[in-house]
Amino acid sequence: MTEPDAVGDLPTEEFRKHARELVDWIGEYFEHPERFPVLPPLIPGATRDALPATPPDSAEPLARILGDIESQIVPRLTHWNHPGFLAYFANTASVPAILGEWLATALNTNAMLWRTGPAAAELEALTTDWVRQLIGLPAGWFGTITDLASTSTLYALAAAREADPTLDIRRRGLAGRDLPALRVYCSDQAHTSVHKAAMTLGIGLDNVVPIASDADFRMIPSALDAAIAADRAAGHRPIAVVGVLGTTSSTSVDPLDAVADICAREKLWFHVDAAYAGVCGAVPELRHHMAGADRADSFVVNPHKWLFTPMDCSVLLVRRPEALKRAFSLVAAYLETAEQESVVNYMDYGFQLGHRFRALKLWMVIRAFGADGIAARIRHHCALAATFAGWVRESPGWTIEAPHPFSVVCFRHDPRTGPTSLPGSASTMTDAEVNAHNARILDAVNASGEVFLSHTVLRGKYVIRVAIGNLRTEQRHLARAWELLRTAARIPAT
Ligand SMILES: Cc1ncc(COP(=O)(O)O)c(C=O)c1O
Repeated sequence: MTEPDAVGDLPTEEFRKHARELVDWIGEYFEHPERFPVLPPLIPGATRDALPATPPDSAEPLARILGDIESQIVPRLTHWNHPGFLAYFANTASVPAILGEWLATALNTNAMLWRTGPAAAELEALTTDWVRQLIGLPAGWFGTITDLASTSTLYALAAAREADPTLDIRRRGLAGRDLPALRVYCSDQAHTSVHKAAMTLGIGLDNVVPIASDADFRMIPSALDAAIAADRAAGHRPIAVVGVLGTTSSTSVDPLDAVADICAREKLWFHVDAAYAGVCGAVPELRHHMAGADRADSFVVNPHKWLFTPMDCSVLLVRRPEALKRAFSLVAAYLETAEQESVVNYMDYGFQLGHRFRALKLWMVIRAFGADGIAARIRHHCALAATFAGWVRESPGWTIEAPHPFSVVCFRHDPRTGPTSLPGSASTMTDAEVNAHNARILDAVNASGEVFLSHTVLRGKYVIRVAIGNLRTEQRHLARAWELLRTAARIPAT
């Protein structure tokens, strides 16, 4: 049989040529990270309209495809690597992580079974244990890397549900049987990933019990105690508590020690969501925030938030891996292996079969920066945040709206509390008008394309967030953000 012309991959020479060009392009991109606006013009449909709506009938040269990416795609992206990216939880695609990710793609390893990627599986166990050591958790945890904290928390709650074998939900499901409502507790500041996990697992949104938080946005342990007692009296079945180390809105830290005590007494699964701030354990003077996390049953930290690893990479540490395995392991005949009792097959610890080689990039980051380098970078971000908070605090009319233990500052402008050049009587503005005023400030600042900030709502107040987590952010970027904010605060409502 003669081979048809166009089968097989593109020639390796093509790869070498374009990969070299791409390396230079990426190098330039990092040397001039402000070349593109951090936030592109927000025109829905612009990218779709700029590109052919139908696939090509025949092969196109890579040079043309890469040219389109540069002209049509990159300028329409929001640039998370931009030093002015101060929104959400900022993060960085660092040099060692990019090399690791690139290699993982080229090697195309799928470590679903130990034998389909022996070194990948073992590197994952090793690297997650490195993370555990870095952040100061005691020995005795099983580690797996998922895509996102949302997945990790879903896995943790699935394990919590399966930790009580008498429920036997794995086999019997939840519906059509005599089961009490399963209850999960978290503070009113917890991330919606907890609620989405409850929706997905059949626990139900109504069974995620919001526990009141104090003036500093930390869960109130006595309120947790009372909620559990009330639920038991009502015949519900409490199964898990989620404590947060670094809430999304304000980065508050729940009193993990007190929550751990309650979980131990009540025999509840204790999950710690440390998606952003878990890496604080790598910095000696911040490690005290981890107190109590050592007694958790599961703990999630996202290297793709503050450990300089590009999307996606979420580390889930579990003290009771047998519960996680009971939740997810189901081995088909074609996946049985002779060594399955003596190795870790990662397909047994999640609902997906395939398992990406994410450990490589994370292992490279930890090696290339070292524990001291990681601590120095996190410490620097916290110092930048403290400097920014100082500017806000010293400016009449501006207020800090939450403690800032890490690298995020929540603040706002309230014309009622300071001198203002706004027309009319600022002192009579309603709360809703002050909220709208801050939303306008944020929009004006973000329209500059120089910095990108986000907002949240704390106790009904619209507040602006500056989140530092990018390795290229310098004090001058914060100074520029501050200048833009103060200018925007003088713009009257139209
Ligand atoms: C505290 C916390 N938990 C969970 C998440 C969800 O993270 P992911 O996007 O990795 O699912 C976030 C996202 O910002 C978060 O702030």
